[in-house]
Amino acid sequence: MQTIEQATQTLPIKGYLNMEIPAGIDLVAEINKMRKEKNAIILAHYYQTGDIQDIADFLGDSLQLARAAADTDADMIVFCGVHFMAEAAKILNPTKKVVLPDMLAGCSLADSCTGEGLRALREQHPGSIVVSYINCDAGVKAESDIIVTSSNAETIINSLPPEQKIIFAPDKNLGRYLNQVTGRKMILWDGACMVHEAFSLERIAQQMAENPNAKLIAHPESEEPVLQVADFIGSTSRLLDYVQNDESQEFIIATEEGIIHEMRKLAPHKKLIPALTQDESCNCSECFYMKRNTMEKLYLCMKYELPEIHIEEELRVKALKSINKMLELSVKVK
Ligand code: 13P
Ligand code: SF4
Repeated sequence: MQTIEQATQTLPIKGYLNMEIPAGIDLVAEINKMRKEKNAIILAHYYQTGDIQDIADFLGDSLQLARAAADTDADMIVFCGVHFMAEAAKILNPTKKVVLPDMLAGCSLADSCTGEGLRALREQHPGSIVVSYINCDAGVKAESDIIVTSSNAETIINSLPPEQKIIFAPDKNLGRYLNQVTGRKMILWDGACMVHEAFSLERIAQQMAENPNAKLIAHPESEEPVLQVADFIGSTSRLLDYVQNDESQEFIIATEEGIIHEMRKLAPHKKLIPALTQDESCNCSECFYMKRNTMEKLYLCMKYELPEIHIEEELRVKALKSINKMLELSVKVK
């Protein structure tokens, strides 16, 4: 029998560690039962494990998940993703209970930036507005004018007056890519995603040589040398659409490999090759944070309605403004 401590590893909840997950429990059946009884919605990002993706009520990219969180009438949002995503759901839904299976599901990119740091940068560049990638905490969102995701960033930046000075945080790789496609000269915060930074151009070039018919598709969080050789660049949902709709039968995928689960379902006859990383001892490009969530933790999280996301009201209201601005400026973005 697995104890809750083993299943959750890190949940710092009083009185929680003595409880046990009954042996032989059917996690899927139990989760389905609780979902109905508690009027809960399970939202999952494409980087979650396959079993979590399969049980979710809604699976999507960051923009789709934010919209789903904004639109739901469920009483409890069970967010299978990372902390900044669950926190955004709470910012949009102050009266609902928002839970995250593992509170330590963080993000290296979000961790690279603080609200105070961003405010200081803005003071150095008077007249600038701050556009932040949704991969940031509430403090950063509160210091931002507009939030964007990789699905709507180009549209939103293009909608701003050409002479407007912009600070973009926290992802320098996405920011550099956006500067290139929009022709802007945004000032970039120096942050990056550890998963996308790990891809090896040299090893990907080798994969391209070995699979001459494969197209390289990449998430814009990847570094410039990888993006330069990519056939297509897009958010997780755009990469998924591309694999389904492009005539090619083979793809090298430069993003977190959880997306391949849904790609296989939607394009079962295509050859999908995860791009290689610099670490030759490990061919995986898994996000350590995303993968902290497990079915066991999801079960416990729904059963005990913990760990719960809380946010101080003044901060929530400030952060909400920049998220609402995003939703308003990207209504037409799929
Ligand atoms: P999207 O799903 O919006 O492309 O974001 C990817 C990501 O980095 C999530 O952490
Ligand atoms: Fe953060 Fe990168 Fe993991 Fe996404 S994949 S949650 S950006 S560390």
